[in-house]
Amino acid sequence: MNERLISSSLYEEDAKSEYSLRPHFLTEYIGQERVKEHMEIYIRAAKARGEALDHALLYGPPGLGKTTLAGIVANEMGTNLRVTSGPAITHAGDLAALLTNLAPGDVLFIDEIHRLNPNVEEVLYPAMEDFALDIIIGKGPSARSIRLDLPRFTLIGATTRMGMLSAPLRDRFGIKEQLELYTPESLTEIITRSASILSVPMDGEAALEIASRSRGTPRIANRLLRRVRDYAQVRGDGDVTLQMAQDALVMLRIDELGLDAVDIKMLTAMIEIFKGGPVGLDTIAAYTGEDAGTVEDVYEPYLLTIGFLARTNRGRIALPAAYAHLDIPLPLALQDAQLKLEV
Ligand code: ADE
Repeated sequence: MNERLISSSLYEEDAKSEYSLRPHFLTEYIGQERVKEHMEIYIRAAKARGEALDHALLYGPPGLGKTTLAGIVANEMGTNLRVTSGPAITHAGDLAALLTNLAPGDVLFIDEIHRLNPNVEEVLYPAMEDFALDIIIGKGPSARSIRLDLPRFTLIGATTRMGMLSAPLRDRFGIKEQLELYTPESLTEIITRSASILSVPMDGEAALEIASRSRGTPRIANRLLRRVRDYAQVRGDGDVTLQMAQDALVMLRIDELGLDAVDIKMLTAMIEIFKGGPVGLDTIAAYTGEDAGTVEDVYEPYLLTIGFLARTNRGRIALPAAYAHLDIPLPLALQDAQLKLEV
């Protein structure tokens, strides 16, 4: 398993501490203003009507708070949250068991919903649309189907890969919200809040420093906060000052933009071996030792956001900002292209 410090996958330690750091209500949830505004309206309207919230699909890169939002929806609606994931539901019966145990208004959260087995997906359609479960009894010509009523529940699906969701499933969600990478300002607020919950004394400048190196991702920000806290505790008096945060991040080999050795290797290969691209996704994946899907969903979004990479239909290209960051002179051809863009 990849244990990159700046990976946005969920590790066991994160899972434990994410739980205590997680906001429980919309008012505590920092950033994602558009999503928050929409959800607040939908929740208030559903509550006023005394109905379950419509099914919602949350999509975007990992670590941005999709599970957290599902928990908030359940809290705001005053109902229970049940959490599972696409790959965990292997048989239609597993899903039937989950669904029949829901109480009215409950929120069923399915993470990585794009990885649902097609047989399971079939069971989900009538459950979502008609709040019904079709069960086949018997085999062969005497088989018959009975319909079981389900309570009105809310399905919240989460995916990092909207494109891999089947159209019929996608269309059954009344609410679709895209989560975006957080701004350094929002991340600073999140880190300050987390530091206060963890009783870590920290300067505002130190929080901004960690935020700037967290790739727009709260999960990474909270993980770096814990490592910086450890460093300040052992090398200092426990206070997280700007200097302490910078020293810790140097030790962790995370540069001032949050890039680690893998990002640098990937960008350097693109520029030096492939002349800046276009390079195919599979080639990049082979160079970084990750699978193509992971490169696309986990690593690229941040590099695209900071203007280091662009996706073209012939592959990925490195942009001038990446050359500047790596201190590699921009080739003449690219300088010309830049000039043309500027005039
Ligand atoms: N912790 C992780 N994500 C958060 C968010 N969006 N708001 C507040 N605290 C968080």
